Amino acid sequence: EKGNYRHYMQKEIFEQPTVVAQTLQSYIHQADNRVALPQIDFDLSAVRRITLVACGTSFYAGMVAKYWFETFARVPVDIDVASEFRYREPPLEEGGLALFISQSGETADTLAALRHCKANGQTIAVVVNVPTSSMAREADLLLPTHAGPEIGVASTKAFTCQLAVLAALAAHLAVKKGRMDRAEEQEVVRHLLEAPACLNAALDHDEDIAGMAHLIAPARDVLYLGRGPDYPLALEGALKLKEISYIHAEGYASGEMKHGPIALIDESVPVIVLAPSGPLFEKTVSNMQEVRARGGKIVLISDEQGLQEAGEGCLATIQMPRVHPLIAPLVYAVPVQLLAYHVACAKGTDVDQPRNLAKSVTVE
Ligand code: M6R
Repeated sequence: EKGNYRHYMQKEIFEQPTVVAQTLQSYIHQADNRVALPQIDFDLSAVRRITLVACGTSFYAGMVAKYWFETFARVPVDIDVASEFRYREPPLEEGGLALFISQSGETADTLAALRHCKANGQTIAVVVNVPTSSMAREADLLLPTHAGPEIGVASTKAFTCQLAVLAALAAHLAVKKGRMDRAEEQEVVRHLLEAPACLNAALDHDEDIAGMAHLIAPARDVLYLGRGPDYPLALEGALKLKEISYIHAEGYASGEMKHGPIALIDESVPVIVLAPSGPLFEKTVSNMQEVRARGGKIVLISDEQGLQEAGEGCLATIQMPRVHPLIAPLVYAVPVQLLAYHVACAKGTDVDQPRNLAKSVTVE
């Protein structure tokens, strides 16, 4: 039930601190702050490469996870959307690990990719929200998210729960590969456990975001920019906005702007910049200047320090709590979800049942 909320999507956005905490709880060994995974008859220390396959928002969670697997565990990740993976006929090493991410566990292309990998000798790991789904049944290593039923067609809480599981898995794999010691693992776990409170702090800005929806609602096109693990968040922000507000939106890696999309910039194209302060911040700020020099209007999403440094002259700013880079993708999911939500409300679209879309895409 929707309770006091206007839409399921809104309710699901606000459930995130609770469901992310629930999800983390089942992957963290309380006594010693270490990652605990379900038992599996497979030697994770032997993993040399991961094949990662998903669609839509789940695919973007996979893109974030690729950074984590590669930086923590130094295990290379091949990632594809399922509809491409199937027909690409990628070479799969015997005994490899294939990882699938899905809210529903029924997405036809992802399921077909899973079966293809299984038939080709891969061990199948699945991050899935519906525990009774086909993917859950066919997994060798089942990694459930505990987001609870997600009703809104636009995926929100499933995404942040997927990220929580994937971060824990990446840390666990890093330990197995001898790339992370116990103290470092505990450090990762500590940061993960900060996520629910930081998600709450992000949700505190709901009203500010609602108040700026009218600035975005009239736009025909919107660009989202991010770097590093925040690049997939830019893609996710753009997907959310298109899905429910029907505004054309694109996500770009900040550094790619000058390779083409900057030609689109004028005063009518808002540019949403996701830039937590940190080592990548200055680079993103210089990309912002390029946009500004062409009359582009910027909405900067950053923390206090970032907004102090670069907030001036923006169309609007959204302040996030200062967070550890590991959990930034979870926390920065909130403002892009809320922005899409409030813009859709301002436009009066059907938020929970957007046109042409189904919750679970069971056709190929
Ligand atoms: O159930 P799945 O996670 O496999 O679904 C994948 C996509 O269909 C899904 O994420 C879709 O992109 C959402 N509508 C995004 O909000």
